[in-house]
Amino acid sequence: MTAIARASNIRFPHRHLLGIEGLSPDEITLLLDLSESYIEYHRQADKKRAVLRGRTLINLFFETSTRTRTSFELAGKRLGGSVINMSVATSAIKKGETLIDTAMTLNAMHPDVLVVRHPDSGAVKLLSEKVNCALINAGDGSHEHPTQALLDALTIRRRKGRLNGLVVAICGDILHSRVARSNIHLLTTMGTRVRVVAPPTLLPAEIERLGVEVFNDMRRGLEDCDIVMMLRLQSERMHGTFVPSTREYFHFFGLDYEKLSAAKPDAMIMHPGPMNRGVEIDSEVADDIGRSAITEQVEIGVAVRMACLDMLTRTLPLSAAELA
Ligand code: CP
Repeated sequence: MTAIARASNIRFPHRHLLGIEGLSPDEITLLLDLSESYIEYHRQADKKRAVLRGRTLINLFFETSTRTRTSFELAGKRLGGSVINMSVATSAIKKGETLIDTAMTLNAMHPDVLVVRHPDSGAVKLLSEKVNCALINAGDGSHEHPTQALLDALTIRRRKGRLNGLVVAICGDILHSRVARSNIHLLTTMGTRVRVVAPPTLLPAEIERLGVEVFNDMRRGLEDCDIVMMLRLQSERMHGTFVPSTREYFHFFGLDYEKLSAAKPDAMIMHPGPMNRGVEIDSEVADDIGRSAITEQVEIGVAVRMACLDMLTRTLPLSAAELA
């Protein structure tokens, strides 16, 4: 299947990657299989490919990022494309230019792909209606972060051999987390049982409608689960007090070995990063090389972004550079 996914005549039936919600199991599997093949590429000494020759990718991040922005840059360069990282801090946005005017200005320079992160839910979809290049959502508010969910799913599939039938506990600040939403959509679509574990203040209303089981107690939520996925408290999205103190939060909801003992003995620990050690996760647990997949998630993130850039540019018309 991986070789089939790599075949350049296979197309992804969407122009943009705005979210996981609405993707079919076959579409998710296609992206995961292609990503799998790119893991081997980027472990080799010669990482350069010509898949994006003549293509231009612009990273437009209105929020901070280490993993997502760097891995899109690496992915674009390793596939032979030109990559521009727009610095929002030194752009005309600081003179009052709007988000849409900025995107339309960049669009007029004929990029092939725009990768956008924005603090407002729905902002990336809005831009997708204004541009004629492919658009990838690198995180919009608390809405979706599709490439994070794909890399999480591939990390799970590689370690556990499947997604179907596993029990995944997503723990922490579900309310403000785009990572949680994208993971819930992807995992439930692929037949995984998903639990969310959080204090009531950090759970969205009617979260059960997304097909998850809800727990307010870590030991009960982690009981016999295969995967423990921890989330950061997203203080930048909090207006008001959601937890009494980080110390008390760690006591009840921080992952330590005592709480982890409720999960299966071979349960895998995940975290999308950035981590707040001692708040949502104990340092020893995070660094447990036998059980933690946190650095593997980062590695797989580059392969997933290579696959998404490859797949989305397959449907674009050839640029002048390619025709030359
Ligand atoms: N997981 C994630 O999106 O990390 P960054 O904010 O560093 O991109």
